[in-house]
Amino acid sequence: MKPAKIGVIGCGMISDHYFKAAKRFPVLDMALCADLDRELAAAKGELYGVKAVSCDELLAAPEIEVVLNLTPPKAHNAVAKAALSAGKHTYSEKPFGVDLAEAEEIMRLASEKHLAVGCAPDTFMGGGQQTARKLIDDGWIGKPVAGTAMVMSRGPETFAHAPFFYDKGGGPMLDLGPYYITSLVNLLGPVASVTAEVDKFADFRTGGSDTVPHVYPVNVDTHQAGTLRFVNGAIVTVIASFEVHYHGHPPIEIYGSEGSLSVPNPNTFGGPVKLFRPGYDEWKEIPLSHIYDQKSRSVGLADMVTALREGRSFRASGELAYHVLEVMLAFCESGRLGRRVEIKSRCERPAPLPLGLRDGEI
Ligand SMILES: NC(=O)c1ccc[n+]([C@@H]2O[C@H](COP(=O)([O-])OP(=O)(O)OC[C@H]3O[C@@H](n4cnc5c(N)ncnc54)[C@H](O)[C@@H]3O)[C@@H](O)[C@H]2O)c1
Repeated sequence: MKPAKIGVIGCGMISDHYFKAAKRFPVLDMALCADLDRELAAAKGELYGVKAVSCDELLAAPEIEVVLNLTPPKAHNAVAKAALSAGKHTYSEKPFGVDLAEAEEIMRLASEKHLAVGCAPDTFMGGGQQTARKLIDDGWIGKPVAGTAMVMSRGPETFAHAPFFYDKGGGPMLDLGPYYITSLVNLLGPVASVTAEVDKFADFRTGGSDTVPHVYPVNVDTHQAGTLRFVNGAIVTVIASFEVHYHGHPPIEIYGSEGSLSVPNPNTFGGPVKLFRPGYDEWKEIPLSHIYDQKSRSVGLADMVTALREGRSFRASGELAYHVLEVMLAFCESGRLGRRVEIKSRCERPAPLPLGLRDGEI
């Protein structure tokens, strides 16, 4: 299969994961990289054997088929628009946009130009999440009726680039929610409605780099607690918080008519996956049925390129990311309105990955 030449825009922290993992997929040819910080792009280019150019040069390069957009959330929309306008397919880091208008714009432009749009996360394609999906699909917990999804910490307040996590496009829901809500949609299908309470409990946080501590504003709700009603009827309690020092909740559990499933951290590719059925004394750990159970960021991009070649749909799609974004944004809307918010968009459950794949295959 002919590899696609990929142009990476944004050479920060997460780009290392893509540069490394993409080498495993023969369909991905990381050809050019660019960043507003030209020195950073040059350094990453040298490290990974990728030619560094300016953003304009990358967008103008006729050989680039897909732009991999690894910029911060607030830049996603402008970079994706520039890529589509230049006639390139685009695959962005999460979230798909900082508001629904941005996401709609990207979907419309892609459709007009007959180009593909993909979006992280692709961790739901990992061995842990796919094993959980197979157990549900094979009926091991019967009909799923309820569940919990909890992602709680003090947040990345001391990271060197902490302020963007507390600004529009960040916060616990838009930063970490994509992993959890995407995992739930992969397991249970689309969401019908959201009912939530949200708040922030400080106007400023202190952090920044170790050498230059500084105070920065909190512009997002740092505790978002709510309930998702799925189209299939299941009711799942979700908490995303940057207000919690310590807790004992597992990442995701799904409860069904015939048993319970403990789903691994959806911000990773691996396990453990644990099952309980009537008659068991406790959880039983289930061996993973699928490959890609370790750092595999770019498997979603590889699936998108393979799908373009094969003329089929792909899993980490714009449609899925749009639905997940609408669900995440509905938490704040529900909290503000003091009532349940109906979700307008729907998406297909992404197809499960086949069994028996070898590394680099989709
Ligand atoms: N860092 C992580 O652990 C992590 C994990 C998963 C996902 N992500 C996601 O990846 C994305 C990037 O995060 P990061 O941690 O790598 O951020 P980062 O700040 O380390 O890197 C982003 C890079 O994009 C560049 N940039 C910003 N605007 C640009 C523009 N308009 N054109 C070209 N370059 C531009 C910046 O100069 C910077 O080098 C975010 O959406 C984030 O949510 C990050």
